[in-house]
Amino acid sequence: MRKIFIAGNWKMHKTVGEAVELARELVTALTEEKKKIMIAPPFTALNTVKEVLAESNSNILLGAQNMGPEEEGAHTGEISVKMLKDVGVSVVILGHSERRHIYNEPDDLINRKVKLALSKGLEVILCVGETLSERESGIAENVVENQLIRGIEGIAEKQLSGLTIAYEPVWAIGTGKTATPEDADKMHGFIRGLIEKKYSKKLSENITIQYGGSVKPGNVKDLMAKDNIDGALVGGASLKAETFIPIVRYDKL
Ligand code: PGA
Repeated sequence: MRKIFIAGNWKMHKTVGEAVELARELVTALTEEKKKIMIAPPFTALNTVKEVLAESNSNILLGAQNMGPEEEGAHTGEISVKMLKDVGVSVVILGHSERRHIYNEPDDLINRKVKLALSKGLEVILCVGETLSERESGIAENVVENQLIRGIEGIAEKQLSGLTIAYEPVWAIGTGKTATPEDADKMHGFIRGLIEKKYSKKLSENITIQYGGSVKPGNVKDLMAKDNIDGALVGGASLKAETFIPIVRYDKL
């Protein structure tokens, strides 16, 4: 059985004070929730948000939005895997489309980060997804295949128990446009097939694949009803308790 995994990516939002306020609201509302939940505040708020989660023994996981590809050294501006673990991070988002497209992160760099994170015991959410022009020219599956296969190149099956894949069509991120549940399910099925071909049927059946791109309380239920959709990576709607809580509790809507 795949575990349902709902994650919030706060991106470049929230001061420490604002982050604490939101974390407190989520902790209070989601104490009884059995699903796997993660919130990824900005780096500056990780430490304090961890304290909020720890104070109340919350099972909400702390996530980071990125990580440097090296263990330590002269890498101005980067944050290492050890630093993330030190403040209580257990999951890191890698290969987000904003890292790929705004900051030009290539697949081999993302692959180095994925390998490093998994080898040090961090879980990884690896994001993949096509742009609008790639979808319109009929190459969406090729793009997703390349990003996925290059992203996990050289990683043994036994290490992939710590991997979640997030399918996030770039044209649906922050735009209000969502892939239809049918289109998303189809791509998720395609991704599962790639995992089966490269590794095994067992891994393909067990791996969690999240959908991301304008997930909101109004569309989460239909997306989650699909066989191959095991969770959501939520941006904009994760910034407010009133929208993130119903997304997590979509089965009660
Ligand atoms: P969005 O972002 O929910 O605001 O579309 C999703 C993401 O970038 O992970």
